[in-house]
Amino acid sequence: MRKIVLFGASKLAKRYCQSLPGDVCILGIADNRYRELDCFVGHKVIAPQDIGTFDYDQIVIALDDLKPGNDGEIFKIYHQLKSLGIPENRIVLQSFKYTFEHPVHKPRTEYISSLGRYFEHMGISGAVAECGVYRGWFSGVLSEVFEKSKLYLFDSFEGFSQDDLEHDTGAARQWVETGANKRLANTNEEIVALRILDRSRLEIRKGFIPDTLEGVDDRFAFVNLDMDLYIPQAAALNFFAGKMIRGGGNSYA
Ligand SMILES: C[S@@+](CC[C@H](N)C(=O)[O-])C[C@H]1O[C@@H](n2cnc3c(N)ncnc32)[C@H](O)[C@@H]1O
Repeated sequence: MRKIVLFGASKLAKRYCQSLPGDVCILGIADNRYRELDCFVGHKVIAPQDIGTFDYDQIVIALDDLKPGNDGEIFKIYHQLKSLGIPENRIVLQSFKYTFEHPVHKPRTEYISSLGRYFEHMGISGAVAECGVYRGWFSGVLSEVFEKSKLYLFDSFEGFSQDDLEHDTGAARQWVETGANKRLANTNEEIVALRILDRSRLEIRKGFIPDTLEGVDDRFAFVNLDMDLYIPQAAALNFFAGKMIRGGGNSYA
């Protein structure tokens, strides 16, 4: 059972509380507005400086990072928590796992959780990678499910490459050119890293695949390929095909 203190009496925190996975328990909610709030969705709202009174595993910052201005707010909270003596490796930003009822994210979260249990049962272990991470919502889930694995995260952090786009004639290209390119460039390594449970086993490779695959020399138990366009997906598939351990898996989006 993972014992969590949520930071932020937000809409997102409410959703967490309403759709908690069975392996999580909320000890309380911390918020800088604790004097006004007292109680939030059945949980006591505590002052950030009182977090240490709980025997917690993690502080989860429950802010919607897509809301304009919230990236800055999230890092302010992160530094506030560190200044209160909370160890860096106990502070994470919310990931898909806690917005559990979402029609797209729920099936993939459930799938990856059951795969993690299967790997554990079969004694399958190896590195894990995600190619195309955007803001790391799914990477955060991967980091929890494959708690002991080295985690490689690949992204340009600036959307799609013009070369990749020119080779794509299908609906994906249209989707990218009608807005996704701009939307998916709205990310950065720092926000992604904040979602990862154990950052000591994290390697972020920034830039375009296939260039960033160079020098990766590991054996992989699970790889998620989610770059939307044919060229990088095919390059990564070819690359990782020779690096999977027996019994490991890939998923493609
Ligand atoms: C659909 S998003 C990934 C979503 C993410 N897997 C999730 O579940 O939240 C696609 C990502 O692929 C990245 N991308 C596209 N082409 C790439 C390439 N050639 N190399 C690296 N990243 C790429 C984009 O920057 C974007 O962040």
